Amino acid sequence: MHKPHLLLLPGLLSDARLWQHQSAALAELAYVTVADLSQADSISELASKVLDQAPDEHFALAGLSMGGYVALEIMRQAPQRVLGLALLDTSAHADSEEAKQGRQALMAKAEHDFPAVIAGLLPKLLHPEHLADESLTEVVTAMANSLGQGAFMRQQRAMLGRIDSRSGLAQISCPTLILCGREDAITPLAVHEELAAAITDSQLVVLDDCGHLSSLEQPEQVAQALELWLQRLAS
Ligand code: MLT
Repeated sequence: MHKPHLLLLPGLLSDARLWQHQSAALAELAYVTVADLSQADSISELASKVLDQAPDEHFALAGLSMGGYVALEIMRQAPQRVLGLALLDTSAHADSEEAKQGRQALMAKAEHDFPAVIAGLLPKLLHPEHLADESLTEVVTAMANSLGQGAFMRQQRAMLGRIDSRSGLAQISCPTLILCGREDAITPLAVHEELAAAITDSQLVVLDDCGHLSSLEQPEQVAQALELWLQRLAS
């Protein structure tokens, strides 16, 4: 197979910096592009925009967290375009009533104190040991400030309105990597085990000492898992 395009989808308040290590590590294996998921307030519109702007007809697709929600929507809209799928620290579930209330409370807080929302998110996003790593907290905070309060509101509206993707998982037939941090506090290991059980051609990778932001917290291991997955697509 010729060198494929790899489309990387970031999560909430994240941009290309979320994938910086993997973009560099995989450059010889794939043409890497990171999508912008900050400009629409529904998952279906975000997915259509990604598809409209995709660099090629066919591509390998990896999404982390909200990026995974969008990737699952792309599997509904255009499965024939996806050579392989990687779902990192994500979930096929829609929000529970409790999760919806939590989001609405966060949005109300972000109206008047966005910096406090970012500070409150950090302990949920990162493994407790990584909270003391300033290079990590700085990049997460810098990304959040670059995207800003407007993108936060749009992304939260998109996630609030997302549908449950579980019934479509059995139709996914491309080689699929499922990866999560063992201590992911936002999308726990159990929902990844569920994804791996429902998607036929899938492999589950669980990383120790890792929270929700696996691509930043365990960059080499995530790059290696993606490399093996890309090699699987090529074989
Ligand atoms: C994300 O990291 O994209 C979000 O935290 C996911 C979510 O809030 O469901």
